[in-house]
Amino acid sequence: MELDALRNRYLAAVSGAGDEAALEDVRLAALGKKGEISALMATLGKMEPEARKAAGAALNVLKDEIDAALRAKKAALSDAALDARLATEWLDVTLPGRPRPRGTIHPVSQVTEEVIAIFADMGFAVAEGPQVESDWHNFDALNIPPEHPARQEHDTFFMARADGDIRPPHVLRTHTSPVQIRAMEARGAPVRIICPGRVYRMDMDQTHTPMFHQVEGLALGHDISMAHLKWTLEEFCRAFFEVPSVELRFRASHFPFTEPSAEVDIRCSWAGGQLKIGEGDSWLEILGSGMVHPKVLAAGGIDPTKWQGFAFGMGIDRIAMLKYGIPDLRAFFESDLRWLRHYGFSALDMPTVAGGLSR
Ligand code: PHE
Repeated sequence: MELDALRNRYLAAVSGAGDEAALEDVRLAALGKKGEISALMATLGKMEPEARKAAGAALNVLKDEIDAALRAKKAALSDAALDARLATEWLDVTLPGRPRPRGTIHPVSQVTEEVIAIFADMGFAVAEGPQVESDWHNFDALNIPPEHPARQEHDTFFMARADGDIRPPHVLRTHTSPVQIRAMEARGAPVRIICPGRVYRMDMDQTHTPMFHQVEGLALGHDISMAHLKWTLEEFCRAFFEVPSVELRFRASHFPFTEPSAEVDIRCSWAGGQLKIGEGDSWLEILGSGMVHPKVLAAGGIDPTKWQGFAFGMGIDRIAMLKYGIPDLRAFFESDLRWLRHYGFSALDMPTVAGGLSR
């Protein structure tokens, strides 16, 4: 009777144990060194031989029974623990993939590629020059002597010199025109290059940032004239703005490094606040240009009595803003992913003249 009660109590405790720790408590209470069954076993020694035999057998049966129940429960609990873990770690491999945050091609990179594609099609190679430029390449060689007011207009960043260093200063290039000189030095004439790149001026508002991008063009030959310049720029603008025709206006201007010089405006309209290139009653300035000054040719090591040609310089960020309707230049350099998702371009759509520039 006593053993039956004991059995029922422990079997109930085993089946009621909620986890492996609770089950271990039950095992210790029944079968541990100080457990109840163990305590009963210890009383066998004081019994008469006959009674000891019967009680011992019964206790062993009970002990085995509880032990078996404990093992079975332990296996069940660990199965349940595994099932619970599997349930939380369950993965539905048939679900569609979750798109991760994706970068896009920045409008400056896109427009640079577009410009390169168009000029490459017209036989212009891409040239590059350093952003930390010698004072001579950035100014003197371009017919801008030290006292020239253009040096002030450019709001130049000068590189610091160590104390006592008297070499002429280096500057952060204020335009891509020094690459004209470097291209003449490196390639001689005839030459046809464009140079896209970063330039620096101390300026900051809605349409100016201390760093921005220009693309320079240079074409030298024996008889290259303003007419070639005009055709090249018209061809470029038509292709770049992806319109059937454009109209350009060449306004007499002055740059120290070109003679004659012209600023170029493009016909446009602003109907409904929306810029439309190619038609309308307004004009928008888009670049500076002219025939390369003989002094500049000479500075580049080219004989101005034998060679002549045109040069132009254009703001990449500016034409990007015009083409893609981007109102504020400063946002170009804020690295805001939301802005990039809105104005950025797919990495897989490389601009080509044949395949389309911005599609
Ligand atoms: N370098 C000039 C500028 O930064 C642009 C230009 C380049 C003008 C070549 C004429 C010829 O404003």
